Amino acid sequence: MPARILVTQHIPDEGLALLRGARDASLEINPTPGAIWTPEELRARVPDHDYLLCLLTDQIDAALLEAGAHGSPPLRLVANMAVGYNNIDLEAARRLGILVTNTPGVLTDATADLTFALLLAVARRIPEADRFTRAGRFHGWQPLLLLGTELSDKTLGIVGMGRIGRAVARRAQGFGMRILYTARHALPAEEERALNASFASLEDVLPRADFLSLHVPYNPQTHHLLNAETLERMKPEAYLINTARGPIVDEAALVAALQAGRLRGAALDVFEDEPRIHPALLQMEQVVLAPHIGSATYETRARMATTAAANILAHLRGETPPNLVP
Ligand code: GLV
Repeated sequence: MPARILVTQHIPDEGLALLRGARDASLEINPTPGAIWTPEELRARVPDHDYLLCLLTDQIDAALLEAGAHGSPPLRLVANMAVGYNNIDLEAARRLGILVTNTPGVLTDATADLTFALLLAVARRIPEADRFTRAGRFHGWQPLLLLGTELSDKTLGIVGMGRIGRAVARRAQGFGMRILYTARHALPAEEERALNASFASLEDVLPRADFLSLHVPYNPQTHHLLNAETLERMKPEAYLINTARGPIVDEAALVAALQAGRLRGAALDVFEDEPRIHPALLQMEQVVLAPHIGSATYETRARMATTAAANILAHLRGETPPNLVP
Protein backbone atom coordinates (compact mmCIF):
# COMPACT_ATOMS: atom_id res chain seq x y z
CA MET A 1 0.00 0.00 0.00
CA PRO A 2 1.47 3.42 -0.87
CA ALA A 3 1.71 5.81 2.09
CA ARG A 4 -1.09 8.34 2.11
CA ILE A 5 -0.31 12.03 2.64
CA LEU A 6 -2.99 14.63 3.39
CA VAL A 7 -2.29 18.35 2.86
CA THR A 8 -4.84 20.65 4.48
CA GLN A 9 -4.50 23.63 2.11
CA HIS A 10 -2.81 24.61 -1.12
CA ILE A 11 0.82 25.26 -0.26
CA PRO A 12 3.63 26.50 -2.55
CA ASP A 13 4.27 24.20 -5.51
CA GLU A 14 7.86 23.56 -4.43
CA GLY A 15 6.60 21.52 -1.46
CA LEU A 16 3.88 19.74 -3.42
CA ALA A 17 6.39 18.80 -6.13
CA LEU A 18 8.59 17.09 -3.53
CA LEU A 19 5.63 15.11 -2.19
CA ARG A 20 4.40 14.23 -5.69
CA GLY A 21 7.86 12.94 -6.56
CA ALA A 22 7.94 10.53 -3.62
CA ARG A 23 7.89 6.88 -4.52
CA ASP A 24 5.24 4.76 -2.83
CA ALA A 25 3.14 7.70 -1.71
CA SER A 26 -0.20 9.16 -2.74
CA LEU A 27 -1.17 12.75 -2.13
CA GLU A 28 -4.53 14.30 -1.25
CA ILE A 29 -4.80 18.10 -1.11
CA ASN A 30 -7.71 20.19 0.03
CA PRO A 31 -9.34 20.80 -3.37
CA THR A 32 -10.69 24.28 -2.60
CA PRO A 33 -8.03 27.01 -2.80
CA GLY A 34 -8.09 29.22 0.29
CA ALA A 35 -10.55 26.98 2.15
CA ILE A 36 -9.76 25.90 5.69
CA TRP A 37 -11.31 22.59 6.73
CA THR A 38 -13.36 22.80 9.91
CA PRO A 39 -12.21 20.54 12.78
CA GLU A 40 -15.05 18.13 11.86
CA GLU A 41 -14.05 18.05 8.19
CA LEU A 42 -10.44 17.45 9.14
CA ARG A 43 -11.37 14.72 11.61
CA ALA A 44 -13.37 12.97 8.88
CA ARG A 45 -10.38 12.97 6.50
CA VAL A 46 -7.39 12.22 8.70
CA PRO A 47 -8.11 8.58 9.72
CA ASP A 48 -7.02 6.94 6.45
CA HIS A 49 -3.74 8.84 6.11
CA ASP A 50 -0.21 8.11 7.30
CA TYR A 51 0.96 11.73 7.11
CA LEU A 52 -0.69 15.08 7.70
CA LEU A 53 0.87 18.30 6.41
CA CYS A 54 -0.98 21.09 8.20
CA LEU A 55 -0.85 24.80 8.90
CA LEU A 56 -1.06 26.90 12.03
CA THR A 57 -4.74 27.53 11.30
CA ASP A 58 -5.51 23.80 11.73
CA GLN A 59 -6.36 22.80 15.29
CA ILE A 60 -4.62 19.47 15.77
CA ASP A 61 -6.29 18.57 19.04
CA ALA A 62 -6.50 15.33 21.02
CA ALA A 63 -9.77 14.27 19.32
CA LEU A 64 -8.20 14.62 15.87
CA LEU A 65 -5.03 12.80 16.90
CA GLU A 66 -7.06 9.98 18.51
CA ALA A 67 -9.04 9.61 15.28
CA GLY A 68 -5.78 9.52 13.32
CA ALA A 69 -4.08 7.06 15.64
CA HIS A 70 -6.98 4.64 15.39
CA GLY A 71 -7.32 5.02 11.63
CA SER A 72 -6.25 2.56 9.01
CA PRO A 73 -3.48 3.24 8.30
CA PRO A 74 -2.77 4.96 11.61
CA LEU A 75 -1.46 8.53 11.46
CA ARG A 76 2.32 8.53 11.90
CA LEU A 77 3.47 12.11 11.58
CA VAL A 78 2.07 15.63 11.63
CA ALA A 79 4.25 18.08 9.69
CA ASN A 80 3.30 21.62 10.69
CA MET A 81 4.23 24.19 8.04
CA ALA A 82 5.16 26.77 10.71
CA VAL A 83 7.83 27.27 13.30
CA GLY A 84 5.26 27.68 16.09
CA TYR A 85 3.30 24.56 17.02
CA ASN A 86 0.88 25.79 19.65
CA ASN A 87 -1.95 24.59 17.36
CA ILE A 88 -0.94 20.97 18.10
CA ASP A 89 -1.69 19.03 21.27
CA LEU A 90 1.85 17.73 21.74
CA GLU A 91 1.02 15.73 24.83
CA ALA A 92 -1.71 13.80 22.99
CA ALA A 93 0.63 13.25 20.03
CA ARG A 94 3.31 11.86 22.35
CA ARG A 95 0.85 9.60 24.13
CA LEU A 96 -0.42 8.26 20.80
CA GLY A 97 3.04 7.81 19.29
CA ILE A 98 2.47 10.38 16.54
CA LEU A 99 5.54 12.41 15.58
CA VAL A 100 5.35 16.18 15.13
CA THR A 101 7.69 18.34 13.03
CA ASN A 102 7.93 22.10 12.38
CA THR A 103 9.88 24.41 10.04
CA PRO A 104 12.45 26.30 12.13
CA GLY A 105 15.18 28.48 10.66
CA VAL A 106 13.65 29.10 7.26
CA LEU A 107 11.43 32.01 8.30
CA THR A 108 13.80 33.86 10.61
CA ASP A 109 14.77 36.68 8.24
CA ALA A 110 11.28 37.18 6.81
CA THR A 111 9.80 37.51 10.30
CA ALA A 112 12.58 39.83 11.47
CA ASP A 113 12.07 41.95 8.33
CA LEU A 114 8.35 42.25 9.05
CA THR A 115 9.07 43.13 12.67
CA PHE A 116 11.18 46.05 11.50
CA ALA A 117 8.66 47.02 8.82
CA LEU A 118 5.98 47.25 11.54
CA LEU A 119 8.29 49.01 13.96
CA LEU A 120 9.11 51.69 11.40
CA ALA A 121 5.51 51.87 10.22
CA VAL A 122 4.19 52.61 13.69
CA ALA A 123 7.09 54.87 14.72
CA ARG A 124 6.80 57.02 11.57
CA ARG A 125 3.03 56.64 11.22
CA ILE A 126 3.27 55.35 7.65
CA PRO A 127 -0.23 53.79 7.32
CA GLU A 128 -1.75 56.89 8.89
CA ALA A 129 0.25 59.12 6.52
CA ASP A 130 -0.86 57.00 3.58
CA ARG A 131 -4.54 57.32 4.60
CA PHE A 132 -4.05 61.06 5.09
CA THR A 133 -2.48 61.53 1.65
CA ARG A 134 -5.05 59.41 -0.19
CA ALA A 135 -7.84 61.36 1.50
CA GLY A 136 -6.59 64.49 -0.29
CA ARG A 137 -5.53 66.13 2.98
CA PHE A 138 -1.95 66.97 1.96
CA HIS A 139 -1.90 70.71 1.36
CA GLY A 140 1.85 71.23 1.75
CA TRP A 141 4.72 70.66 4.18
CA GLN A 142 3.92 71.58 7.75
CA PRO A 143 6.27 71.74 10.74
CA LEU A 144 3.97 69.71 12.99
CA LEU A 145 2.44 67.31 10.50
CA LEU A 146 2.47 63.61 11.44
CA LEU A 147 5.46 63.72 13.76
CA GLY A 148 6.81 60.34 14.77
CA THR A 149 9.57 58.79 16.82
CA GLU A 150 13.19 58.32 15.79
CA LEU A 151 14.88 54.92 16.19
CA SER A 152 18.43 56.10 16.60
CA ASP A 153 19.72 56.02 20.18
CA LYS A 154 16.54 54.31 21.42
CA THR A 155 16.24 51.12 23.44
CA LEU A 156 14.66 48.12 21.78
CA GLY A 157 13.41 45.56 24.29
CA ILE A 158 13.42 42.07 22.80
CA VAL A 159 11.43 39.46 24.69
CA GLY A 160 12.88 36.11 23.62
CA MET A 161 16.35 36.04 22.06
CA GLY A 162 16.05 32.94 19.88
CA ARG A 163 16.69 32.86 16.14
CA ILE A 164 14.13 35.56 15.33
CA GLY A 165 14.95 37.78 18.33
CA ARG A 166 18.62 37.78 17.34
CA ALA A 167 17.78 38.55 13.70
CA VAL A 168 15.74 41.54 14.92
CA ALA A 169 18.69 42.65 17.09
CA ARG A 170 21.02 42.47 14.07
CA ARG A 171 18.71 44.75 12.09
CA ALA A 172 18.48 47.17 15.03
CA GLN A 173 22.26 47.73 14.78
CA GLY A 174 21.75 49.45 11.42
CA PHE A 175 19.42 51.93 13.12
CA GLY A 176 21.74 52.72 16.01
CA MET A 177 19.53 51.15 18.68
CA ARG A 178 20.49 49.64 22.05
CA ILE A 179 19.09 46.23 22.89
CA LEU A 180 17.83 44.96 26.21
CA TYR A 181 16.69 41.37 25.97
CA THR A 182 15.11 38.65 28.01
CA ALA A 183 15.93 35.00 27.38
CA ARG A 184 16.39 31.76 29.27
CA HIS A 185 20.18 32.29 29.09
CA ALA A 186 22.36 35.27 28.32
CA LEU A 187 24.14 35.27 24.94
CA PRO A 188 27.92 34.84 24.91
CA ALA A 189 29.60 38.15 25.83
CA GLU A 190 31.06 38.51 22.34
CA GLU A 191 27.63 38.26 20.70
CA GLU A 192 26.17 40.72 23.21
CA ARG A 193 28.91 43.19 22.29
CA ALA A 194 28.34 42.71 18.56
CA LEU A 195 24.60 43.30 18.99
CA ASN A 196 24.96 46.16 21.51
CA ALA A 197 22.70 43.99 23.69
CA SER A 198 22.34 43.48 27.44
CA PHE A 199 20.59 40.62 29.17
CA ALA A 200 17.84 41.70 31.62
CA SER A 201 14.70 40.49 33.33
CA LEU A 202 11.33 41.44 31.86
CA GLU A 203 10.85 43.56 34.95
CA ASP A 204 13.92 45.62 34.02
CA VAL A 205 13.18 45.76 30.31
CA LEU A 206 9.61 47.07 30.60
CA PRO A 207 10.31 50.54 32.04
CA ARG A 208 13.39 51.08 29.86
CA ALA A 209 12.23 49.99 26.39
CA ASP A 210 11.18 52.60 23.84
CA PHE A 211 10.06 49.73 21.61
CA LEU A 212 9.17 46.28 22.92
CA SER A 213 9.14 43.39 20.46
CA LEU A 214 7.93 39.89 21.30
CA HIS A 215 9.75 36.79 20.05
CA VAL A 216 8.84 33.98 22.45
CA PRO A 217 6.78 30.90 21.58
CA TYR A 218 3.23 30.78 22.88
CA ASN A 219 2.72 28.32 25.74
CA PRO A 220 1.13 28.39 29.21
CA GLN A 221 4.17 30.29 30.57
CA THR A 222 3.90 33.07 27.97
CA HIS A 223 0.08 33.38 28.01
CA HIS A 224 -0.73 37.08 28.65
CA LEU A 225 2.89 37.87 29.45
CA LEU A 226 1.87 41.40 28.50
CA ASN A 227 -1.17 42.18 30.63
CA ALA A 228 -2.65 45.16 32.48
CA GLU A 229 0.06 45.01 35.10
CA THR A 230 3.08 44.55 32.80
CA LEU A 231 1.79 47.08 30.24
CA GLU A 232 1.41 49.56 33.08
CA ARG A 233 5.16 49.37 33.70
CA MET A 234 6.06 50.42 30.15
CA LYS A 235 6.87 54.03 29.25
CA PRO A 236 3.86 56.00 28.00
CA GLU A 237 5.85 56.92 24.89
CA ALA A 238 6.76 53.29 24.12
CA TYR A 239 5.47 51.06 21.32
CA LEU A 240 4.62 47.36 21.40
CA ILE A 241 5.35 45.16 18.37
CA ASN A 242 4.00 41.62 18.22
CA THR A 243 4.96 39.26 15.39
CA ALA A 244 4.98 36.16 17.64
CA ARG A 245 1.58 34.91 18.81
CA GLY A 246 -1.51 36.91 19.74
CA PRO A 247 -2.34 35.43 23.14
CA ILE A 248 1.06 36.46 24.53
CA VAL A 249 -0.69 39.82 24.89
CA ASP A 250 -3.94 40.39 26.77
CA GLU A 251 -5.62 42.23 23.90
CA ALA A 252 -8.29 43.87 26.07
CA ALA A 253 -5.58 45.21 28.41
CA LEU A 254 -3.62 46.51 25.41
CA VAL A 255 -6.70 48.31 24.12
CA ALA A 256 -7.25 49.88 27.55
CA ALA A 257 -3.60 51.00 27.76
CA LEU A 258 -3.73 52.55 24.27
CA GLN A 259 -7.05 54.25 24.95
CA ALA A 260 -5.69 55.74 28.17
CA GLY A 261 -2.52 56.95 26.42
CA ARG A 262 -0.35 54.67 28.57
CA LEU A 263 1.38 53.47 25.38
CA ARG A 264 2.07 55.53 22.29
CA GLY A 265 1.29 52.84 19.76
CA ALA A 266 1.29 49.19 18.77
CA ALA A 267 2.02 47.21 15.64
CA LEU A 268 0.46 43.80 15.52
CA ASP A 269 0.76 40.93 13.06
CA VAL A 270 -0.97 38.44 15.36
CA PHE A 271 -4.11 38.55 17.48
CA GLU A 272 -5.49 36.84 20.50
CA ASP A 273 -8.38 35.13 18.72
CA GLU A 274 -7.44 35.10 15.02
CA PRO A 275 -8.95 36.00 12.66
CA ARG A 276 -11.10 38.07 15.05
CA ILE A 277 -9.55 41.43 15.97
CA HIS A 278 -10.66 43.53 18.93
CA PRO A 279 -12.97 46.13 17.29
CA ALA A 280 -11.34 49.01 19.18
CA LEU A 281 -7.97 48.25 17.54
CA LEU A 282 -9.54 48.71 14.12
CA GLN A 283 -10.46 52.28 15.04
CA MET A 284 -7.10 53.42 16.42
CA GLU A 285 -4.81 55.58 14.29
CA GLN A 286 -1.82 54.75 16.52
CA VAL A 287 -2.11 51.03 15.78
CA VAL A 288 -0.70 49.27 12.71
CA LEU A 289 -2.35 45.95 11.84
CA ALA A 290 -1.27 43.12 9.57
CA PRO A 291 -2.99 39.77 8.92
CA HIS A 292 -0.34 37.34 10.28
CA ILE A 293 2.11 37.76 7.39
CA GLY A 294 5.43 37.43 9.25
CA SER A 295 6.64 34.61 7.02
CA ALA A 296 4.77 35.71 3.90
CA THR A 297 7.51 36.08 1.30
CA TYR A 298 7.78 34.00 -1.86
CA GLU A 299 11.17 32.72 -0.75
CA THR A 300 10.22 31.83 2.80
CA ARG A 301 6.87 30.21 2.06
CA ALA A 302 8.57 28.02 -0.57
CA ARG A 303 11.20 27.00 2.00
CA MET A 304 8.54 26.32 4.63
CA ALA A 305 6.68 24.05 2.20
CA THR A 306 9.81 22.14 1.17
CA THR A 307 10.93 21.82 4.80
CA ALA A 308 7.55 20.39 5.87
CA ALA A 309 7.60 18.03 2.88
CA ALA A 310 11.19 16.98 3.63
CA ASN A 311 10.19 16.00 7.16
CA ILE A 312 7.54 13.65 5.75
CA LEU A 313 9.86 12.26 3.08
CA ALA A 314 12.59 11.53 5.62
CA HIS A 315 10.17 9.49 7.71
CA LEU A 316 8.96 7.70 4.56
CA ARG A 317 12.55 6.64 3.88
CA GLY A 318 12.83 5.31 7.41
CA GLU A 319 15.02 8.20 8.62
CA THR A 320 14.52 10.52 11.57
CA PRO A 321 12.83 13.70 10.30
CA PRO A 322 15.21 16.67 10.63
CA ASN A 323 12.80 18.95 12.49
CA LEU A 324 11.21 16.73 15.11
CA VAL A 325 9.54 18.75 17.85
CA PRO A 326 10.88 17.43 21.14
C1 GLV B 1 4.17 31.58 11.85
O1 GLV B 1 3.51 32.25 12.59
C2 GLV B 1 4.89 30.40 12.23
O2 GLV B 1 4.85 29.99 13.39
O3 GLV B 1 5.51 29.80 11.34
